Amino acid sequence: MIFDSSIFEIPIIKNVIVYDETDSTNNRAKEFGKNGCVDGTLIVSDCQTMGRGRIGRSFSSPAGEGIYMSLLLKPDIDEGLISQVTLLSGLAISRALANNYDIKANIKWPNDLILNGKKITGILTEKCDDFIVIGIGINVNNKEFDEGIADIATSLYLETGREYERETLITYILKEFNSLYFTFLTEQNLKSIIEEYNSKLISFNKDIYIIPHELTDKLNNSYQITDASLPVCHCMGIAPDGSLICRDSKGTLSQLNSGEISVRNA
Ligand code: BTN
Repeated sequence: MIFDSSIFEIPIIKNVIVYDETDSTNNRAKEFGKNGCVDGTLIVSDCQTMGRGRIGRSFSSPAGEGIYMSLLLKPDIDEGLISQVTLLSGLAISRALANNYDIKANIKWPNDLILNGKKITGILTEKCDDFIVIGIGINVNNKEFDEGIADIATSLYLETGREYERETLITYILKEFNSLYFTFLTEQNLKSIIEEYNSKLISFNKDIYIIPHELTDKLNNSYQITDASLPVCHCMGIAPDGSLICRDSKGTLSQLNSGEISVRNA
């Protein structure tokens, strides 16, 4: 992949490193971070041999098809605020798709984007020493998916019938992220984006199942839930700290933390 100099017009981007192949761009970013690379280092790879997702999952990363990138940042914020950067990233991708291609993807809190009911994007934010790594995977020009994920994953190509230049989409996403991130650094919360975020949230104003991470894999990745013993509550949208506000059947409100649970629409 080849980037032109316009990527450096985005203030947050100070350094771009491109691979033809690597195990995981998050792994490379962590390595660079430990060796003292600059805030604003972007690692991009044409493919990954061990793309990683949340909760120890893998992220399918075939050559020439998807976007696999990691942004290393050194924000001056408390550790407790880092999960909010994942939400900013999801919103940045959704804005980039809507504003430039008229693609209306929904956000599945906290870290996936969903298009026509299937996943197109996953985000894996990791903290290490004095830096964070935001790993973004997007299914862009994929023509097919392996059995096992074909029923839950899709690509921009499969949903719109056209191919997209990955470098251009990356630049659009980083521009959106740049402006969201600088506002966030000043405000240190998500108040100013709550309304927009909720309007894209796939669970907003819907009943949802709350799924502890240890159960997620037992549910076989499927969005079909058959376990009636799982708690159901009504999703009221995100709070300024990025947690998900839920109302249970008794009307009691609680705030769910993404570190411990996932949600699916009931
Ligand atoms: C998830 O779906 O749970 C998150 C997937 C994150 C995938 C991206 S691809 C670039 C970066 N490198 C990785 O190994 N993972 C992230």
